[in-house]
Amino acid sequence: MDYELIRKIRENTDIVDLIGKYIPLVKKGKNYFGLCPFHSDTNPSLSVSREKQIYKCFVCGEAGNVFNFLMKYENISFKESVRLVGNEIGVSIFEDFKRVDDKNKVYYDIYDIANKFYQNNLLSKEGEKAREYLKTRNLDMDTIKEFQIGLSLKNRDTLTNLLVKKGYDINTLNNLGLATDDYDTYINRIIFPLFNFNGLVNGFSGRIFNGENINKYLNSKETPIFKKGENLFNYHRAKESVRQDKFVIVMEGFMAVIRAYTIGVKNCIALMGTSLTNEQILSIKKLSNKVYLCLDGDKAGESATINNGKLLMDANLDVKVIPLSDNLDPDDYILKYGSDKFYSLISNAINYNDYKIKVLKKGIDFNSSNDLANYINLVLNEISLENDEIKREIMLKNLAKETNVWYNTLEKKLNELLSKKVSVSKTNFKEPLVKVKKFDKYEKTLQTIVYYMVSNREVITIVSNSHIHIPLDSYRILIREITYFYEKYGYINIADFLTYIEDNKELKDLFSEILKLDIEYSEDKKVILDYLKVIKDYNVALEIKRLENLIKNEIDPNEQAKISNQIMKLRIGSESND
Ligand code: UTP
Ligand code: MN
Repeated sequence: MDYELIRKIRENTDIVDLIGKYIPLVKKGKNYFGLCPFHSDTNPSLSVSREKQIYKCFVCGEAGNVFNFLMKYENISFKESVRLVGNEIGVSIFEDFKRVDDKNKVYYDIYDIANKFYQNNLLSKEGEKAREYLKTRNLDMDTIKEFQIGLSLKNRDTLTNLLVKKGYDINTLNNLGLATDDYDTYINRIIFPLFNFNGLVNGFSGRIFNGENINKYLNSKETPIFKKGENLFNYHRAKESVRQDKFVIVMEGFMAVIRAYTIGVKNCIALMGTSLTNEQILSIKKLSNKVYLCLDGDKAGESATINNGKLLMDANLDVKVIPLSDNLDPDDYILKYGSDKFYSLISNAINYNDYKIKVLKKGIDFNSSNDLANYINLVLNEISLENDEIKREIMLKNLAKETNVWYNTLEKKLNELLSKKVSVSKTNFKEPLVKVKKFDKYEKTLQTIVYYMVSNREVITIVSNSHIHIPLDSYRILIREITYFYEKYGYINIADFLTYIEDNKELKDLFSEILKLDIEYSEDKKVILDYLKVIKDYNVALEIKRLENLIKNEIDPNEQAKISNQIMKLRIGSESND
């Protein structure tokens, strides 16, 4: 890629503005802070520097420039991130460049062809029955087009034949789940394409439509481009609306999401019948901190709400519930009661904790003191799980009012419970592991030297002129690259150097590690001489050690004397340097 162009794009983009479009940032001192999207963050630990045009997270250690942020946030390649940032400032590059990592490009191509084929089938003569079925489901042509709904044919080899004729290997089709034992996987089903977060088709779900007695939906198997535990239906389409509405609605099935879309509720995603995974929770977090659960209104949906809600609460998300009546799913509900009723359900969404208590209350006979005592104990237990003291008090007041039990009695009971719970176990949600690396004095010194070099070009000259030997290979290479960058472009800064080493994973990791350290930079160039001295002494100490070993193995007394003379000189030299 054209480095100069990339540099221009970066220079004309402000990292604070760009990241600010994704997460709210607040200015504190010189830097801007926000909740880090790369781990489950409670306190704003992502710091963005306008001056340096880099960001870093003090907790999980993620660091980089605008491109690195987008790569990580949008899960895209470096090239694609450059293109995106370029678009923001009206520089259009890589016209033919698709949002695909090259390795999987052919897989996405195949899915794209299959998707178009299925869509055509639905519109063809053979699609008549399927179209009728979709009509009975109240899906009009606009919706069918928007969600790219298609149809797989009755013949067992139409798609495989087509793709093989186009030159794709049948084994690839088997591996991608489009074929099973060399024949079409999807036979006579309505096809709902599934998309990855960037809007590329990466799987299908096929629904029966003429009452066959087989599984209702047939989903893609795990492939290099489709991971069931990571996918969320409609994620890519919902992104924009979620940012506008500032919350995301999670539903169980995709028919529900499609229905909500038809009445203008476009900030919905679906789980596709499974329980939330850690990966999915992190992805949801990238969309919004506010999650509304709108699962099916049956018993199963209720416990799915309780379970998934807990996972989301543990990830520090703000969770609300949109409860549905009559065992209905959102699709049925909207069809039965109309869109206005559904809108008002959304605006009246209730807090997760209140929902939970509401569920506990079901079937309780408030006239039976036994039932009532049971209920009170269950609710008190719930309240004790709440970490926010104010929320606890509100819940406790509600309980007192509701049950006519004296507030102080309840409070006493609650305090007993709280003292028993030494620590509230925050369960399943796992933070990305923060590696706490220990560095010895010399490595720390090398890190500081590197940091100074990228912060001030004069330091590069000082280091070059010192002709110092850098004892660790990785740092030697890094320092050489910094010097080379400066010689070639005549300037240095962290943001552009990051771009420069983008392709070199080892260097990039090493450099990112250094950025995380929060090294204190001083304009005083003499400081760097002290650091260089530490490395020099280290080199001398190493050399002395080597010579001492030589002496041990030397039998010739003359040689021994020579070596020990050398050692002496080294010792004196290093002292006189002080
Ligand atoms: P539902 O059975 O609630 O289906 O399953 P639905 O969304 O209401 O669909 P319709 O209205 O019957 O057409 C919820 C989700 O669970 C997954 C699908 O992703 C579905 O959207 N599921 C369900 C399967 O994967 N396989 C099945 O056989 C059934
Ligand atoms: Mn349904």
